[in-house]
This record gives sequence, structure tokens and C-alpha cells, in this order.
Amino acid sequence: MTAGAGRERLVFANWKMHKGQAEAQAWCRRVAAALALRPGRVVAVFPPFTALAAARAGGAGGESLALGAQDVYPATAGAVTGEVGTDQLADLGVRFVLCGHSERRRLLGEDDALVARKVAAALAAGMTPVVCVGEDGPEREHGRTEAVLRRQVAGAVEGLGAEAVRRVVWAYEPVWAIGSGRPATPEQAAEAAATLRQSLRARYGAALDGHEAPVLYGGSVDPENAAAFARAPGVDGALVGGASLDAEAFVTLVERVAP
Ligand code: PGA
Repeated sequence: MTAGAGRERLVFANWKMHKGQAEAQAWCRRVAAALALRPGRVVAVFPPFTALAAARAGGAGGESLALGAQDVYPATAGAVTGEVGTDQLADLGVRFVLCGHSERRRLLGEDDALVARKVAAALAAGMTPVVCVGEDGPEREHGRTEAVLRRQVAGAVEGLGAEAVRRVVWAYEPVWAIGSGRPATPEQAAEAAATLRQSLRARYGAALDGHEAPVLYGGSVDPENAAAFARAPGVDGALVGGASLDAEAFVTLVERVAP
């Protein structure tokens, strides 16, 4: 089965290091009110940790707008200064957790092994990990995209059984497309989604029969180009950074991806 009719559509807003509490609450109020709950559509917002409670107060974590975290420390709680564990996220009603965003891999040195621990911790806490993978510009230019994706996928699922892998959401986010205003083409996104699923099949074989992993595209998605990505074969939705900061623009984008 390829993505398209009948598949769940996911549209995720990644605010990164933006918005304080008042703004977060106002954005969530507007978006939650504007988006009616639609079967087959999942919309989530990923505020910074400091605005999770405000987002929740604004209605995120409810039916029409789920709550996500941009990261997690791979433990429930403990003596880890400056980090946030799964207990704290669960307490806030967090349902999705970004794992291995390229900004964290690049700026904070997160490697595949740490990403795998985060994925496992999120799953153990009953949350859905959203694993971000993608090549950088030189890797694409040198024809290494597929190898990079395969390595990142294998790294992220290290130690996971097939049942756990079925609960993972994937985001293909080419590093060169993030925040650049230069998105991948829908064809490139479709190719990457196929590579991702092949990597999983190569590893798990028949244990994944009947399961088509959800794959989002992220990287300079905006209200104008979002529909083209949503139509790309094998692409189930979008992970949106910059274009998610404005509530009205994000609602427009959601309606185009998942009417
Ligand atoms: P962008 O970010 O939409 O601003 O390119 C996407 C992301 O990094 O998740």
C-alpha cells in the first residue's frame, strides 16, 4: 500500500526555540478553535519545554491539537541537571516526542546511539517518537543520501523489536532544506520515504508485514507548497518549522495538507 487515500495525515508544528508562554497559549487557543477534529487527521504542536504548560492551558493536548515535545532525556526521571525526562512530559500530556532533529545532531552532537535511547524511552513511556533523519548538502551532492538514511534508520531502531518499531513515526528532513526556503522536491521526498521503508523491511522482514511506516516531510514547508508534499507517494504529512509560527498560516497549511 502506498500513502494517500485512507492513510492518516499528520501535520506537526515545530516551534524550535521560539515563543514565550503568552504567545504559546494564544497560538494554541486559535489553532485548536479553528481546527475541528477530523477523523484521519492528527495535528500536533511541539513548543519549547518552557511553553508546554502554556500550550496545554491554551488547549493543546486535546482532541483537535495534540501536544509534542522537541526532545527528551532517555530516562523517566533522575539526577540529570538541565534535562527533561519522560515522567515530566507525561505529566504535561505529551503524546509525541521529536528524536534526533538535525539541529540537535549538528549543534549538540547527538549521535545515532543517543537517538536510539530516546526513541526507546519515549516508547516505554507510551509516547510516539517522531524520528528525524536526513542528509546534508554535501552528502546529497556526493550521492550518499540513501546510505545516510539507511544508517540513521538502523541507528534509531537499534535494539527495538518489530512491535515497537510499528509505533514510530518518521520525518525525512534534508538538512539543506531546513530553514533555507529551498524545499526538497516532492519526488525527492517520495524517494526518501521509500528508502526509509525499505531500510525497515530489510531489517525486520515479515515481522513488519501489513505495516507501512508513517513518513512526514520537513524542510521549508509552507502553505503554498504543503499540498504538493501531501500528494507525494508515500508521504503522510509534514513537519513544519518557520511556517508554523503564525497561527493563521499554520491553519491554512493544515487545511491544505489534510482538508
Ligand atoms: P523549517 O523547519 O520548516 O523552518 O524548514 C522544519 C524543521 O526543522 O522541522
